[in-house]
Amino acid sequence: MGDLKDKKILLGVSGGIAAYKSAELVRLLTTSEATVRVVMTPAATQFVAPLTFQALSNNPVRLSLLDSNEENGMDHIHLARWADHIIIAPATADFLAKISLGLADDLLSTLCLATGSPISVAPAMNRGMWKNTATQENVSRLKKRGIQILGPDSGNLACGETGEGRMRSPEEICVDLKKYLNQRGGLQGNSVLVTAGPTREALDPVRYFSNRSSGKMGYAIAVAAKNAGASVTLVSGPVSLLPPDGIRVIAVESAHDMFNAVMEEISNYQIFVGTAAVSDYKPSVVASEKIKKDQDQLLLTLDKNPDILASVAKKEGIFTVGFAAETHHLERYAKAKLRDKQLDMIAANWVSRDEGGFENNENALQVYWPDGNSQLAMAPKTILADRLIELIAERFHAKNTT
Ligand code: PMT
Repeated sequence: MGDLKDKKILLGVSGGIAAYKSAELVRLLTTSEATVRVVMTPAATQFVAPLTFQALSNNPVRLSLLDSNEENGMDHIHLARWADHIIIAPATADFLAKISLGLADDLLSTLCLATGSPISVAPAMNRGMWKNTATQENVSRLKKRGIQILGPDSGNLACGETGEGRMRSPEEICVDLKKYLNQRGGLQGNSVLVTAGPTREALDPVRYFSNRSSGKMGYAIAVAAKNAGASVTLVSGPVSLLPPDGIRVIAVESAHDMFNAVMEEISNYQIFVGTAAVSDYKPSVVASEKIKKDQDQLLLTLDKNPDILASVAKKEGIFTVGFAAETHHLERYAKAKLRDKQLDMIAANWVSRDEGGFENNENALQVYWPDGNSQLAMAPKTILADRLIELIAERFHAKNTT
């Protein structure tokens, strides 16, 4: 039964009569050796006492957003980062509406908004409420965001009617969850080195050249690789993102620092993903004192930085994935980089449009490999990263079995 061994599952219980079935779900998950923590909405506590979940999960049950017992009052961030997977069962019509809108007025909805981990929901409600266009629109919005919808099933409902709306049985939810987590574990036991963020090229003690990379895409890829079972190291330029849980982060500043860190580490990794926006050039001379504005024109000479991606690709046995940030001829330039740098795969994105690219929370990728391609439509960078990691896992395993 231990096929959820070491998985950290956060079970969210919202306020419906099916909440009693979730007690059995906790028992099944813990029997499968998952660590389970339960968060209940205030309405859920009207159906089942928190003590029931506490006893079954062997962990305290969290109920409110502002918990004075927590050291720093940031329970939602802690829980959102702790969970490998969040499952909401039962998910009421009200709760589905809430998360589809991104509302965050209680602990459970707030951590759904804060998490980078995958979310599954098991809807449970009256059949009329399920069929209602409002609910169906909310569900299709959630699906588009990559949230997994488990059920509902048809049968006798608590309200006395018969039809679709019954929460899927705890046994089936457990099986669905195992399938989902195992499918996602495409990089179980593999190691991945990811670069992210911008580099800074010093000009004098106070000035530098840099670019608009926020690190969001690279951090999302590192988290997706970790969720797929890999051990992950992130070599990161200066960004304002928090280091993701369970991922070693090596902080660097310049392209040279990034090159040195990657070269020192790379022999321990099977897969390299170069998401960083590495500066192609650096000032030839770094002034030791602040440059004064006493000249009308200042001419700078730049030297080329080492190409980290091309250097990794030259090494034997490392599945090398590059990125291409393009303002025009995206396909042509991306394919040229794939070929010239002898990469296994390249993910190309537009960086001249309002949507996607630098800084935005969403992006779209055109992915190419020597004998194929895939278009990953505009989606939040966290979801897109999951899809890219699935493709990488597929191509990586295909290469290693031929
Ligand atoms: O960080 P975000 O705000 O989320 O934005 C994401 C992103 C737009 C930065 C990301 O999706 C992206 O496109 N990253 C690559 C940016 C880039 O530098 O592209 P490029 O086409 O100039 O470089 C091609 C590849 O060579 C990249 O994998 C780059 O990491 C690598 N490179 C470039 C120069 C260099 N000296 N060494 C390198 O390894």
